[in-house]
Amino acid sequence: LNYNVNKERRYILQVLFNGLRRLEYRGYDSAGIAIDSNSSDPIPSSSSSHSSTVSQPPLVFRREGNIESLVKSVYQEVAETDLNLDESFSVHAGIAHTRWATHGEPAQRNSHPQSSGDGNDFLVVHNGVITNYEVLKETLVRHGFTFESETDTEVIPKLAKFVFDKANEEGDQTVTFSQVVLEVMRHLEGAYALIFKSRHYPNELIACKRGSPLLLGVKDLTENMNNASAFHDEKFLSKNDHPKELFLSSDANAVVEHTKKVLVIEDGEVVHLKDGGVTILKFDSDKGKHGGSFSRPASVQRALSVLEMEVEQINKGKYEHYMQKEIHEQPESLTTTMRGRLIRGGSHKAKTVLLGGLKDHLKTIRRSRRIVFIGCGTSYNAALAARPILEELSGVPVTMEVASDLLDRQGPIYREDTAVFVSQSGETADTLLALEYALENGALCVGITNTVSSAIARHTHCGVHINAGAEIGVASTKAYTSQIVVMAMLALAIGGDTISNEAKREATIDGLIDLPNKVREVLHLDQEMKDLAKLLIAEQSLLVFGRGYNYATALEGALKVKEVALMHSEGILAGEMKHGPLALVDENLPIVVIATRDACFSKQQSVIQQLHARKGRLIVMCSKGDAAAVCPGESCRVIEVPQVEDCLQPVVNIIPLQLLAYHLTVLRGFNVDQPRNLAKSVTTQ
Ligand code: G6P
Repeated sequence: LNYNVNKERRYILQVLFNGLRRLEYRGYDSAGIAIDSNSSDPIPSSSSSHSSTVSQPPLVFRREGNIESLVKSVYQEVAETDLNLDESFSVHAGIAHTRWATHGEPAQRNSHPQSSGDGNDFLVVHNGVITNYEVLKETLVRHGFTFESETDTEVIPKLAKFVFDKANEEGDQTVTFSQVVLEVMRHLEGAYALIFKSRHYPNELIACKRGSPLLLGVKDLTENMNNASAFHDEKFLSKNDHPKELFLSSDANAVVEHTKKVLVIEDGEVVHLKDGGVTILKFDSDKGKHGGSFSRPASVQRALSVLEMEVEQINKGKYEHYMQKEIHEQPESLTTTMRGRLIRGGSHKAKTVLLGGLKDHLKTIRRSRRIVFIGCGTSYNAALAARPILEELSGVPVTMEVASDLLDRQGPIYREDTAVFVSQSGETADTLLALEYALENGALCVGITNTVSSAIARHTHCGVHINAGAEIGVASTKAYTSQIVVMAMLALAIGGDTISNEAKREATIDGLIDLPNKVREVLHLDQEMKDLAKLLIAEQSLLVFGRGYNYATALEGALKVKEVALMHSEGILAGEMKHGPLALVDENLPIVVIATRDACFSKQQSVIQQLHARKGRLIVMCSKGDAAAVCPGESCRVIEVPQVEDCLQPVVNIIPLQLLAYHLTVLRGFNVDQPRNLAKSVTTQ
């Protein structure tokens, strides 16, 4: 929302489109925007006696496909009509959305903004799922509403119109926009972050949330942006005499290029942007009744915080794709993850690890009955990679839970447990629900996320940020390696300075310090992996065998190939080879075997022999100099990687497989940053 800023329509469109581009990695099957029509000339209200300030209907553009198809079609439409891009607005309220279909196929009618009907009295963009939409829809249909989409979202603007019209019919002509939204919220079940726009409330926007992420960015055009004192000035938010731009977004990425001053909206809060001021109300489901007696909740005072991210982080730089950039920046992201956390110590002082976010909880963690790792996808795999070192150093039993499975089973979680939630985004719905479940069961909850102020970071008792920097590619790469490093540091912190752990601790810390160099070295395999990808381009399937520390590498390598290269791939626990997977082996199916030096090396040598005996088409990953020791015959291809401390080897070993997945995808002609049917951050169940 622009306030007191004379900006042309051209600029407003650009801001909205760029915001969508920044969020496209979260969903990219359809998109839409709503902007004000001609200078929002107020027209007399025909539908109700509510107000004389009802504006011209907003202009709504929606398209199936990605953001660029929306952009193209909007400019095409502009060229064909008399819509003036130079027209300037002192105040303007626009909304935009990029969709990832949950209810209803990708199609124009299912794109957002969803509308209350003819005239676009109320428009809504939504992230989340409304679980009781069918009941609401039935009721609204009974009241004469007709629905055009299959989305759950469409009930929301229609409900808003219903509430608004009813209030007016009953003579309440003073009903405010926030009262309408509070009443709508009373009927909604499920997860949502919503933004409402209405022609009955020109130049206002309302946002509210429950479960899905939402933040407000504030760009005050008169303030010195470096004036830190303003950030904590609560009155600043309600100042309406300053020209300013206000941004609401699911993600800081869309805001950071405009401002770093943000406010993370909490569940149940309703943010009302009006006349350049911001009012935040707290929704209370017990209060507020429809029928003329709307509740008037007290406004909440909140202070702004400052985003710790740079715009460069969300640009591709010299790379063609985000995934490529993120793979190649791992030496730097790992360095940032470890910065200030590893203490080398003097000659007579033991080396140690400092994790500030955990220091008050380490004793409780050490005394816990078990440590349970909980996550989804790549984050789960990262925890699996760290499990052995945590078991070794802490002596506490460590179990693993896929978040959705824990919830399906309502598996036991006890007060004496430490539950560690691993999530790059910090917003994954399954992980978040598992967190709620663990909190209810009284466990100590630790968060490991890459997103400061994310729901998981806020709702856990304590935690560690992985500080890998913004990750945009849908397939996680640098977050994975930083997560492993954080969990190795977690193991060191929990293990403490015991004599029995001393040798392992020192070796691991030395290994961590040198790890960015080793990662730099392994990135030199880029061309080799591209050549290998060329050989595999037409394959149907790829198996990856690993065990011990590198069972996780097998799962994660296969996941990368599967999700971006759209090639079937399975990570296989090599110890289970004879119990099924061996049946698949023949001279055609390519198999990657991870056989770097660690306690499992000789067992992997034996696996290679057995696969070779079955004429397996082998690609062996081994430590530098081990090619002869692992290769059973000339047909075997080798990937040599630098050897590091065993618990850190998964960080090095995954990189050639990330590169392989990347090149396979590009060579096969697929979109590497936006794989088919996948979203970066799955904020719905
Ligand atoms: C989605 C993404 C994966 C990611 C998983 C967990 O499925 O496509 O790349 O690993 O969610 O996400 P999180 O943000 O919780 O780590």
